[in-house]
Amino acid sequence: MNIEYQSSKNLPNDKLFRLFLAVGWASEETTTHEMLEKFNIGFLNSTFVYSAWSGDELVGCVRVLSDLHFRSIIYDLAVLPEYQKNGIGKELIRRCREKCEESEWIVQTDKAKGFYEKIGFHENNSFLLTIPCKWF
Ligand SMILES: CC(C)(COP(=O)(O)OP(=O)(O)OC[C@H]1O[C@@H](n2cnc3c(N)ncnc32)[C@H](O)[C@@H]1OP(=O)(O)O)[C@@H](O)C(=O)NCCC(=O)NCCS
Repeated sequence: MNIEYQSSKNLPNDKLFRLFLAVGWASEETTTHEMLEKFNIGFLNSTFVYSAWSGDELVGCVRVLSDLHFRSIIYDLAVLPEYQKNGIGKELIRRCREKCEESEWIVQTDKAKGFYEKIGFHENNSFLLTIPCKWF
């Protein structure tokens, strides 16, 4: 499998949407034209981004909010289902951690808990308090 990794934050909206659709994070019914035009805004405004490509197909992505020293938070790690279990998710996270080796790394996940434990994350029982996002 010939996968190329990139660090551009400017991921194409349509390709990112297709990836989010494929992992069940977006729906064609509820995504408006206006939302599609700004689909990559979270990536553009993140501290850093990595993406995985097979030719011109976007097959994986991840974005990180980080102070580049103490704390880094992972968002939107996704790999196309037909490309999963080939080490792409692991490589995307490896590249993120390499950017900021001494940082604490945080991720909030339910379904991907097994994946993160496999690559060295440990469950932390701290309480999480939130105000929900207006958009989802
Ligand atoms: C989670 C996800 C990104 C993993 O990507 P991936 O490319 O399939 O993962 P990798 O192939 O790099 O897996 C690395 C290791 O973790 C294991 N693994 C992958 N998914 C796993 C899971 N859900 N539970 C347990 N282990 C898992 C792999 O078998 C592999 O083990 P190995 O090194 O012994 O072979 C992918 O399943 C995905 O996109 N899921 C849907 C979106 C999602 O839930 N994202 C997380 C949001 S925080």
